[in-house]
Amino acid sequence: MSMEKYGHFSEDRHEFVIDRPDTPAPWINFTSNGRYTRLISNVGGGYAYWQTPRLHRITRHRYNSMPVDRPGHYLYVRDSKTGDYWSPSWQPCAKDLEKYECRHGLNYTRITGKRGGVEASVLTFVPAEDDLEIWRITVTNTTRARKSLDLFAYTELCMGNALNDLVNQPNDQHFNDVFLDKKTQVLYATKRYWNTFGSATVEQSNVTYDRFIFMASSLPVKGFDGSKSQFIGRWRSEENPAAVEGGKCGNTVITAGDAVGALQFALELGPGEKKDFVVVLGIVPKETAKRDAPALARKYRSLKTTDAAFKALVDDWRDYVSCVRVETPDDDLNTMINVWNQWQTACTFRFSRDAGYYHGGLLFGRGFRDSCQDTFGPLMTRPEWVRQRLLEMSTHQFKNGSVVHCYFPVSGGYARTGHSDTPLWLPLASAMYVKETGDYSFLKEVTPYEKEPGDKKDPGKATMLQHIYGCLDYTLKNLTERNLPKFGPGDWNDTLDYMGRKGRGESVWNALCLCYVLRETVELAGVIGDKAAARRYQAAYDKVAAAVNKLCWDGEWYIVGTNDLREVVGSKKNKECRVYQNTQTWAVLSGVASPERAKKAMAAVKKHLDTPKGPKLLDPAFRTINTNIGLATRCVPGKKENAAVFNHPVSWSVLAEALLGHGDQAYEYYRKALPMNPVVDIDRYEMEPYVYSEYVTSPDHPTFGQASHAWLTGSSTWMLRDVTDYILGVRPTYEGLIIDPCIPTAWKGYTIRRKFRGQVFEVTVSNPRGVNKGVKSLTVNGRAQVGNLIPVKPGKARAGVAPKVVRVEVVLG
Ligand code: GLC
Repeated sequence: MSMEKYGHFSEDRHEFVIDRPDTPAPWINFTSNGRYTRLISNVGGGYAYWQTPRLHRITRHRYNSMPVDRPGHYLYVRDSKTGDYWSPSWQPCAKDLEKYECRHGLNYTRITGKRGGVEASVLTFVPAEDDLEIWRITVTNTTRARKSLDLFAYTELCMGNALNDLVNQPNDQHFNDVFLDKKTQVLYATKRYWNTFGSATVEQSNVTYDRFIFMASSLPVKGFDGSKSQFIGRWRSEENPAAVEGGKCGNTVITAGDAVGALQFALELGPGEKKDFVVVLGIVPKETAKRDAPALARKYRSLKTTDAAFKALVDDWRDYVSCVRVETPDDDLNTMINVWNQWQTACTFRFSRDAGYYHGGLLFGRGFRDSCQDTFGPLMTRPEWVRQRLLEMSTHQFKNGSVVHCYFPVSGGYARTGHSDTPLWLPLASAMYVKETGDYSFLKEVTPYEKEPGDKKDPGKATMLQHIYGCLDYTLKNLTERNLPKFGPGDWNDTLDYMGRKGRGESVWNALCLCYVLRETVELAGVIGDKAAARRYQAAYDKVAAAVNKLCWDGEWYIVGTNDLREVVGSKKNKECRVYQNTQTWAVLSGVASPERAKKAMAAVKKHLDTPKGPKLLDPAFRTINTNIGLATRCVPGKKENAAVFNHPVSWSVLAEALLGHGDQAYEYYRKALPMNPVVDIDRYEMEPYVYSEYVTSPDHPTFGQASHAWLTGSSTWMLRDVTDYILGVRPTYEGLIIDPCIPTAWKGYTIRRKFRGQVFEVTVSNPRGVNKGVKSLTVNGRAQVGNLIPVKPGKARAGVAPKVVRVEVVLG
């Protein structure tokens, strides 16, 4: 059974419409202005935070609670005549609804429910300007009778350090204040203390939480509660709160106890009558709260202002996705590239692997490796975001060239693990940025180095170009005596974490990634005229590539590497993990494999790893625990890094096949991996069919076809760029755009519109002879051109000025 059991895309594809609430898992969405973020599931679950999900958590999220999705930000509707109460989001009351619909859109969600002839619709979004979420609510009486309703808006508050709240709630609850300011009708909530330590600790901090959370509505407040135990009542839950059941909030002001924000309103509706109102939940600095909160409440109590803010948001995201638009014979591909894949990459850019449903916002902060890759999506549409992000990331490089593995923006703090690949991603993302924009001034920007722990001296500053070279020089200085990068505590694969902790193990994927980045940097150095650097890095490339080809080719494929005992993993000689996907794909991506080896390596992926959902990470799965390999061997076969279909590596298989000119194979892997292809069925697949999940269980496990970790995954940006750059083949280079499609032979043609350097390129490709690749002719604005590179000068779109449209006609054959 496909996703239609639970939902479908709207006609214009800009919304995913869920038409029954009991989805196999919460199907979520994000709404954020980059500061205030709300996660929202199709049944009203999810949490909110400001700037950082660990330190400024606004509302609570119950960890380890799946399949229960609680708490959330809920609206309750109570009929005062019958006493019947329910929620339009179905949860948490789970009462039968006469109608239910959740529309997840780009940066907003609208949930509608109907019961007893009353329809309530809640549109949730975060406006660009202000740090709050808006619930824009419409209640309609569809009956012929008058309805007297009580409505309750409810959230469970965290207020500050979410990690501390989790491990120390019995203590933490003694610092909570919630009260209502009757005059302005604003509910305020805060904590008298704020643990700003990076991890759970018994140390007590000595500061107050520097924010107020506030809640307000455009309806008069009939009652309120600050106390969770009062609102919910003894031995009850969100499903049947005492206040809602009894139709009356307790007006509890609290100075201790678990905090909630609950507001009650009365609504009288005549037959057929409809009323619109607004609830806001926001965050303001403590010192200015009494001024800011009422002002914000006043602002958004105006439906006109609220609706204008929503329209601006919709327009903004329509514009965001309109920068890339494709029309191909594949409707699913079009939906993904034109809307959902782009929206997902905007989310991975903002939330990294930090704030999701499967990443709880407590552990990771911003991962260096992941975040660099997360730039590839917004790069096409909002390059200025990427510029700023890369400059920020460069400040987390130490003077010796190494970088932190993850860091915590706003709150500070980082983890330094020594993974060999981590520094390599900054040069890669930077090269992509310059290719996209032609903005060479970026390389001259100066940013400071990160301080070594205990370092009293200022470590100084460097230009971006120096930061980039520093990343490579550090990596090259730390090769083994055989000229291969060390495995260290893992490579891309976090679970090969005990291969190389003693410094002898060698990672082939790290070597290939290094070669890829060296080749990119040779090109960059050449373009800016730094011949010495180009020579230096070319020599390094040759040296490492030669080592890989000499030591790491196993006859039909490349090995994983060696561990500290110099035992080989990923070879014919092994019983488990004989074939590994990443070293085959990256041998192609990096150009290290000869054409013959490249073909063989990818044939091995096809032969040994392919499944109905795309190639799995390795085969055979590990079944024996090996303390000299690591966590991969402890994980159940078929899940996660132990032989699941990991979508991030699958995206590299798509790319490798495209680079080899195998348009049909690239496309086949791409189609298999699409989130709307659940392989077994949607109940088994479980996750959202509109965004990529991190992995899908492979046939090695009885739950084959079950996806996990939706949303925050590196596959999202790579899949997007696989299609735009390599399958549809419109690819930035320093000089301009290369047109180099690699498509299935069955495609007769397609179009791709792509914003680039302030202009819009409308590319129409036809494939009369049914080939995979090869540009036979190309015209630019009607003029024939030799070769397939369209030179484009650096430039930016000018605000208010329509971009120049360049029409490109391409014939393959
Ligand atoms: C997760 C991590 C990523 C890592 C991958 C494989 O997706 O976020 O950094 O490369 O797992 O272990």
